[in-house]
Parts: sequence; C-alpha cells; structure tokens
Amino acid sequence: MKKPFGGEAPFNAQGVFYAMVHSGRGALRLLLASGLAKKRILLPDYLCKIVLEVMHQYKATCDFYHVKPDLTFDWKQIKGKRYDALYVINYFGQKTKIRPALLQGKTLIIDDVFSPLPEFPKGVGAWVIFNSLRKVMPLAEGALVAANFPLRTEEIKSTAGEFATFKYKAKQIKADYLTLQKGHQQAYLNMFAMAEAKLDTDRGIHIPSLMTLGLLPVQYSNLEKEQKIRQSQYQILDKCLNAYKIDLKPDNFSFYVLKVNCRDSLKEYLAKQGIFLPAHWPVVKGLSNLLYDQILSIPLDSRYSDAQIRMVAYAIRRFFNE
Ligand SMILES: Cc1ncc(COP(=O)(O)O)c(C=O)c1O
Repeated sequence: MKKPFGGEAPFNAQGVFYAMVHSGRGALRLLLASGLAKKRILLPDYLCKIVLEVMHQYKATCDFYHVKPDLTFDWKQIKGKRYDALYVINYFGQKTKIRPALLQGKTLIIDDVFSPLPEFPKGVGAWVIFNSLRKVMPLAEGALVAANFPLRTEEIKSTAGEFATFKYKAKQIKADYLTLQKGHQQAYLNMFAMAEAKLDTDRGIHIPSLMTLGLLPVQYSNLEKEQKIRQSQYQILDKCLNAYKIDLKPDNFSFYVLKVNCRDSLKEYLAKQGIFLPAHWPVVKGLSNLLYDQILSIPLDSRYSDAQIRMVAYAIRRFFNE
C-alpha cells in the first residue's frame, strides 16, 4: 500500500481513555461511576478523608492495608485479601512499585495527585490513574484522568464548579496583597475558605473552568523551569533538615516531607513566625497510622526565594535547638 501523505493527522490513543475534570475528587467520582461503584476497594490506611467520602458516595466497600513509616507498603499483606480494586497513592510524587503478579488481574487505581504528568502502569490488567493540578501548580483546579477502560464521561457536568471562580478571585487578591501591599490578608483567607467550602459541598463531577483550560498550556510549558527551581530548593532544605525527612524519590518535586514526633508543636511554633506548613492529612476517623501525627511538609515553589527557603529551614532547626 502506498501511504497517503497529508490530510488530518492520525492519532492512536493506544487503548487509553482520557478526561479532564475539575478536581481529584471529581476524577475519583468519575472512575467509581465507570464500573467501580458498590465494589470492594482495598485502600491504604494513610490517606486524605475526601477519598473515603467519595467511596461512601458511590457505596464502595472499603478495606485497608497498612502504610509503613517510609510511605511504602508490603505487598504480602494484600495476598489473600478479597477485593475488586486496589487503591495506591503515589505519596508526594514517589511512584508506587507495582507488582502485577500480586494484583491477580484486579483493577488498579493510582492516586497520583502530586504529579503533573502521571505515568501509566505497565503489565497490569485494568488500571486508572488521576492527579490534582492544584497540588502541583498555581491553578485553582483541574485533574487529568486516564484509564485503559472506557470512562463514563456522560457523568461529567458541562458547567464548571462554582468554587473555581472564587478560588481565582482569592488568588488575585493574595497576589495583589503580596506584590502591591494592596488589600487585607483576611480578605483572601475568607474567600479561599468560602471556595473550599463550596468545593466540599458539591458532590458532582465538573469540567474545569475556561480559565483553567486556558492556563493549562502556559503552566505545562513552564514545567521544566519550575522543576529546576524546586529541585534546587529541595537541595537547600536537604542540607539543613535531612535528619528529619522521609527519604522519598519523587519524579516531580512538590514538597520536602518531614517526619517528626512533635509535629503539632513544631507546626504551631512555625505558625507564630508566619510560616504555615501543611500537615498531610488530618486524622481519618476509624484509621490508625502514626503518619497522621508525624508528617509536615514544606511546599517547593518558584514563588519562594532561596532566602525564604533557608529561613524556613533555620526556623525548624531552632525549634530543635540546633
Ligand atoms: C491523596 C489525595 N487524593 C485525592 C485528593 C482529592 O483531590 P482534590 O482536592 O483535588 O479533590 C486529595 C486531596 O487533598 C488527596 O490528598
């Protein structure tokens, strides 16, 4: 056959189905609606409570496996368990080492919320992966979902979530406050809280807003530059704080992750100095894992100067009287 030249470009999706939705929880709802509702899901005992809320919304039966202090888990504990889908989290961008033989053809759900570019698993049966762009970019929302089975995209509402507009407004007020010393801190804090409350009460799946879709190519084209800055921030922190870190090998830098026994007093001590660090995640009722009380993470981001990053590291060292 003589191959034709020109015309529309061909594209082979290689059996992968893609969607963009408003958030990680939207992605989760979509994948559960795509054949996993009311199924038995095996989840890690260290996770964000919204994951369980969505599981309950779709009447999934949840069972749990234990996550170790280094944020990995032992596949042996999964052997012999009865489940339809295994849920793994790529904690802070570190890829979970998948053992296809131990999965025994069950569906694999990969929660890759800390990664802008999810990497598809190889050698497993059915799989689905999603991220949450607001965790890794200055976007207010957006989540990529990909699966090797069809996604019920008809479940996605054709309007954006109301919270996104408020989030972008709050971000603008914060930017003006920080760069132009205009307005008040409380104004953006209130608006962020309001937007988050709207997101929490909305149980739907939405398309991302046009603002987000427009910003996407800009953010992705900046990815490499941003990663270089974050990597250098990681190295600065590592020189001062490596005694307190979890040694992760992320494929994408988003947080420098500390594991400390006195996490809450450290968090409070830093907050008094205007350093607000996120604690992933608030304890989930019914689950027990020491990690809920020990993890504190330092966001890596080009909006921070090296001097600010050093200031955070020194403040933490002072807390430990070093
Ligand atoms: C591990 C994990 N999965 C899923 C989600 C849900 O993502 P989103 O907040 O974008 O809905 C979160 C949110 O924090 C999370 O931490």
